Amino acid sequence: MRPGGRYVDGTLGAGGHAEAILKASFPGGRLLGIDADPKALEVARQRLAGYGPAVTLVNDNFRHLEDICRSHGFLPADGVLLDLGLSSLQLDDAERGFSFRLDSPLDMRFGPGQTTTAADIVNTYPEQDIAAILRDYGEERHSRLIARRIAAIRPISTTRELAGAIEHLPGMVPGRIHPATRTFQALRIAVNREMDSLQEVLVQAIRVLAVGGRLAVISYHSLEDRIVKQFMAQESRGCLCPPEVPVCACGHTSALRLVNRKPATPSETEVRDNPRSRSAKLRAAERI
Ligand SMILES: C[S@@+](CC[C@H](N)C(=O)[O-])C[C@H]1O[C@@H](n2cnc3c(N)ncnc32)[C@H](O)[C@@H]1O
Repeated sequence: MRPGGRYVDGTLGAGGHAEAILKASFPGGRLLGIDADPKALEVARQRLAGYGPAVTLVNDNFRHLEDICRSHGFLPADGVLLDLGLSSLQLDDAERGFSFRLDSPLDMRFGPGQTTTAADIVNTYPEQDIAAILRDYGEERHSRLIARRIAAIRPISTTRELAGAIEHLPGMVPGRIHPATRTFQALRIAVNREMDSLQEVLVQAIRVLAVGGRLAVISYHSLEDRIVKQFMAQESRGCLCPPEVPVCACGHTSALRLVNRKPATPSETEVRDNPRSRSAKLRAAERI
């Protein structure tokens, strides 16, 4: 972080990281904050009000990163931060449908502009497609069993109905994590097309960053982390041709240098203070 730098927080949330970036880049640092959720933007706007014109906030999906940076004079940027997934504000909001611990409509959209809700998926998708979502995005071992149950009892309109249906399936013993955890994660990822957005934003981050600028990504589950890890590994390599090819035919050149080979993880104290950080992994790379 350097004074006067231009930084992009692609997942603004309540603005905690954004504020830390503004402090670390003082004086003269500028921040572009993006969030798909207009409610998050309002919270962050109040928190960052004291920073005046140093802050630009945009309600959009980070999959449009390059266009957003261009429109707001943030090309090239000195840093791009992505703190993936959903915020505590969203999880604890009884109207949003992200938590199986609260009773609310099955929504799960990050923003009201999106059309597909979790209720649309559970009530209209074919059983096999629901099973595939639970398997691919939730790594749920019981994906077919749960999908069969959903298809048998739908329509389902609330989070408690869905969580209750899963809890009562045979073999679902409450363990370290609630039996509905993976289903809720999978539906949220599908509703918000999170994996597609992540793939798209990573490619654009390279185009947006100045040489020496850094990309930092915090992920919370293995699917996200795998995408980030593979992307950074590939972009920190030169030629990607198979070893048996004598002369490079791909023309690929490295665009990144890994800052940390192993992801940074929270300390025990941090996990104690903020239990939701327990699965966080931070990977960072520098544009070369
Ligand atoms: C973990 S929270 C970020 C918390 C933030 N770092 C803070 O300090 O408060 C993730 C935020 O990213 C937003 N988000 C997730 N995916 C997004 C996407 N594809 N485009 C824009 N915002 C997204 C969510 O709406 C949520 O507010």
